[in-house]
Amino acid sequence: MKFSLLVFIPLYLGYPIFQQLFNVDDSLSSLPDATVNKTTLQSWVNDEYNVAWNNLLRNMGNSSTCNDDDLYPGVIVASPSKVQPDYYYQWTRDSALTIRTLIHYLQDFIDSPDERFNEYQWLIEQYIWNNYKLQRLQTMSGDFTSGNTLGEPKFMVDNTPFNEKWGRPQNDGPPLRVSSILSFMKLNLTYKTGLNDSFIFNEIIKPDLGFVANNWEKESFDLWEEIQSLHFFTSLVQLKGLFDGIQYIKSNSLDLEDEFLDHLQSSYDNLKKFIEFYYVNSNANYVIETPNLFPHTRSGLDAAVLLGSIHSHDMNDLDVNIPFDIDNNYILNHLTYLTRDMKSRYPINHNLNQAVGLGRYPEDVYDGYGTSEGNPWFISTATAAEMLCKLVYKMISDKQDLVVTRANKEFFNMVLPIDDSDGFFIIKYKSKVFDELVDSLIKLSDSFLVVIKDHVDLRGGISEQFNKYHGFMEGARDLTWSYSSLLNALRWREKIIDFLN
Ligand code: NOJ
Ligand code: NOJ
Repeated sequence: MKFSLLVFIPLYLGYPIFQQLFNVDDSLSSLPDATVNKTTLQSWVNDEYNVAWNNLLRNMGNSSTCNDDDLYPGVIVASPSKVQPDYYYQWTRDSALTIRTLIHYLQDFIDSPDERFNEYQWLIEQYIWNNYKLQRLQTMSGDFTSGNTLGEPKFMVDNTPFNEKWGRPQNDGPPLRVSSILSFMKLNLTYKTGLNDSFIFNEIIKPDLGFVANNWEKESFDLWEEIQSLHFFTSLVQLKGLFDGIQYIKSNSLDLEDEFLDHLQSSYDNLKKFIEFYYVNSNANYVIETPNLFPHTRSGLDAAVLLGSIHSHDMNDLDVNIPFDIDNNYILNHLTYLTRDMKSRYPINHNLNQAVGLGRYPEDVYDGYGTSEGNPWFISTATAAEMLCKLVYKMISDKQDLVVTRANKEFFNMVLPIDDSDGFFIIKYKSKVFDELVDSLIKLSDSFLVVIKDHVDLRGGISEQFNKYHGFMEGARDLTWSYSSLLNALRWREKIIDFLN
């Protein structure tokens, strides 16, 4: 396959440096005036990779670099910021997604475990143990006996309940935790702590699965903690959690009461059908995040849809069991329209060509401290980069011709002028156009990363948002989820580079 040398030579040359830097520990951030080299995307990626890992670990109790000696092992704070805004709490969602970044590392390096591998494994086990404790707290969402406490969205960092008014429950937390922990258990590592499979399954996973099966039809607050309704992100990660749970039970021939498995199975079947009709609408050719608000209060465009898609598909054969994978037309269109909207909405995007700084959703008014006007977010922008890399990965590993139709041509038109006079257009696998398309999608993904590079600070620190007028960072500093989502995107970029070399 031929690709533009202009893209691959710098990527290729950068790779050894990338690997070398990999083992260098705290070299950058221990220097007071350390900077990340923003000269090229690759020079920045090489530096930022280490900074992002170190800063992410600083926000986890008992990691080698943790900021706060008093944090229990396995506690993950959303951000070290204690005032303006106060994000010094543990959120179930942020933690479950962040721990996935560590689990990905184990998946990638299982054949050559190094010191980091061992540290991450230990931290993941601590995270699991810590969640056992959080699940059992009596909170404003309820208690453990009824199961209602499992929808509690956030906790104090000392593992006591957060007893103030908040958008609760948030029913994405338990299924995200289920999928993260099960993906760790699938690795079959020898535990470093007192944990074992049956304890984790029976005491931690099973209650969460029961919660999902009992609650998927009920409204809860969305991942942005603002609207009580049914949401695509929440429903899709619930479906994925149920699926992972059922798979685990079946493949380990667990001897459970039949009713439990039946309950999970029928919930999975019903939720799947529900998702396939409820989140699409004949007036839109993209998935709608919160149908209740469509079309008057909300357009339905929301980075949550992209997040839902990437976090409920593992890029393997089992993905067919969960609808709305990253190459689904309604998901591709979603990225197209969200990008288009954000380009005109946020002034810093006006002069950009294809990739832009993506916010959460068009109608957003949260500025990172209070409410005024929304800004672009690092998480949303990194998610677009990751999604595009995964799409390329799928296109080249599936070895299929690509069919461009009215239903997806707007997406492909972002990168390639496509003549669709016949209504559809077949791009042969490995043809010149196919290769050009792949090449342009990689460039598009990279240009989302360039937007991130241009707005992080000179030490590689990443907050929650960047200002839509002047581009400087806003909101909670050193946001754990920002580092995690960037590392996930870099991981997929790296996989593409490996795949094509
Ligand atoms: C804080 C929440 O975490 C954020 O997502 C939300 O937008 C604002 N509160 C709304 O005030
Ligand atoms: C606000 C975000 O909207 C929410 O998704 C997140 O869980 C919290 N901040 C903590 O990072």
